[in-house]
Amino acid sequence: MSTSNENDGAAPQRITVVGTGYLGATHAICMAILGYDVLGVDVDPGKVDRLARGDVPFFEPGLPEKLAEAQATGRIRFTTDFDEAADFGEVHFICVGTPQKPDSYAADLRYVQSAVRELASRIHGDALIVGKSTVPVGTAADLAELADEVSPEDARIEVAWNPEFLREGFAVDDTLHPDRLVFGVASEQAEATLRDVFSPIVDEGVPVLVTDIPTAELVKVAANSFLATKISYINAMAEVCEATGADVDSLSAALGLDDRIGSRFLKPGLGFGGGCLPKDIRAFRARAEELGVGDAVAFLAEVDAINIRRRTRTVDLIRELVGGDLAGKRVAALGAAFKPNSDDVRDAPALDVARLLYLEGAHVTVYDPEANSNAHRAYPDLDYADSLEEAVVDADVVALLTEWSEFREASPASLEEAGAHPRMVDARDVLDQEAYVAAGWEFRALGRPAPQAGRVAARVPAH
Ligand code: UDX
Repeated sequence: MSTSNENDGAAPQRITVVGTGYLGATHAICMAILGYDVLGVDVDPGKVDRLARGDVPFFEPGLPEKLAEAQATGRIRFTTDFDEAADFGEVHFICVGTPQKPDSYAADLRYVQSAVRELASRIHGDALIVGKSTVPVGTAADLAELADEVSPEDARIEVAWNPEFLREGFAVDDTLHPDRLVFGVASEQAEATLRDVFSPIVDEGVPVLVTDIPTAELVKVAANSFLATKISYINAMAEVCEATGADVDSLSAALGLDDRIGSRFLKPGLGFGGGCLPKDIRAFRARAEELGVGDAVAFLAEVDAINIRRRTRTVDLIRELVGGDLAGKRVAALGAAFKPNSDDVRDAPALDVARLLYLEGAHVTVYDPEANSNAHRAYPDLDYADSLEEAVVDADVVALLTEWSEFREASPASLEEAGAHPRMVDARDVLDQEAYVAAGWEFRALGRPAPQAGRVAARVPAH
C-alpha cells in the first residue's frame, strides 16, 4: 500500500490515538504502518510500558509483527501524558472502551468523557477529535459541548465520528482493508481532514460514506444488532429443530445458499459473546427507550434471550449425557474464549457454560489454547488444564464450547486414548458426528437430532 504521508520529504502528519486497548492499539499501529507519526495515549502505565517494549498486551494474530514493523520506522510512541498528546498534532482519535454499566443495560460513557475532557482542556488552536468508540447516538453532540466547555479560549475543536468495525482475530486486516469507511462529520473541513488521514485506504478503492454524526454513531450499533439478530435467528431455528428432530446445520446450509440471505453469521451453536455484540444490543435498547422509540428495537431483548438460552440448553445436553445429575461429574470444557483465535473472555458463552456446570456441582476442567489465564482471573474456582489431553483425563463428558481448530482436528480415538469417557457434546456444531459415533462415542450437538442407528446422516456442504 502506498503511503501518502511520507512523500516529498515532508514530516509525516501527526496523529494521536487515545486508548490503547483492542481498538486503539490496532488503530495506532496501523496508522504508523500507513506512514503517520503516531502517539498512543493511555491512562494505564502498565499497558503503555508493554506496548513501548513491543509487547501487545492481548492476543491478536499478526499485531505483534505489525507493532515491531511500526517501531522499526520510529513512527510510533506510547505515553500516559495528555499534555504531550494535546500538543502532538491536530487529529486525535478516541478509542477508549464503552462497557455496559454495572447497574443497567446502558453504555458507560465515563471513559470517552474523561478522554475528551483531558485532551480538550489542553488544546490550543485547531483540532479534530474523531470518535471511534461505539457510543449511543447523540454522544458526539454531548462531547462537542463538553470540549467547548473545558477547552482554553484559543482552542477551535471540532468533533467527528468514524465508527470502527474490526473483528477480533482479524483486527489488522479489518483496519487496513475495511469493507467501508464511515465519516460522520459536521463540516466540509472535517470531511477533508478524514479523507486525507485515510487516503492510503481510500486510494485502494474502499467505499467512503460521508454522513451526519448521528447516522455514523448509529451505523455501528445497527450493524452489530443485525449480526446478533442473524445469529439468534438461526439459533431460534435450532430450538425448533430440537423439538422436531430436524437438523439445524442442514437448515442453515440450505438458507445460506440463498444469495438474499447468505451463509455468513448463520452458524448455529452456543451463540455470540465478546466485548461488542452483547453489550451493544443492550445499550441500543437502553438508548432507544430514552429516545421514546424503545418499541422499534424491543426485538433485541428476544435476540439476547435466545442467545442466553443456548447456554442453558448446552448444560441440559451435558447433564442428559451423564445420566441426569451433574453433581460430582467430571466435565472437560474445551474452550473459554468467546470465539477462536482470541483470548477474550468477556461475556464468553463457553465460560458461562463452565460456570453453570460448576454451580450444579460438576467438577469442571477448562482448557483454552490462549484464554486460560484471562478465564482463571474471571473464574478462579474452576480448574484449568495446560493441554487438551490433560483436560480430558477421566472426564465423564467432553464439551466443545469454543471451536478452536485444535479441538476440531482432534480425533475421537486420540481423545479416548487420553482418558476421556466417550461422551461428547458439540456446542458449536463443528465436529464430524459420524466419525465420533463410528468410534463408539455418545454424541450430542445443539440443534441436531441424537444420532440413531440406520438414520440418514445429513450431509452439509462446507460453508
Ligand atoms: C463484532 C463485529 O463483527 C465487529 O464488526 C465489531 O466491530 C465488533 O463486534 P467480534 O466481537 O470480534 O466482532 O466477533 P465476531 O467475529 O463478529 O463474532 C461475534 C460472536 O458471534 C462470537 O462469539 C462468535 O462465536 C459468534 N458467532 C459468529 C456465531 O455464533 N455464529 C456465527 O455465525 C458468527
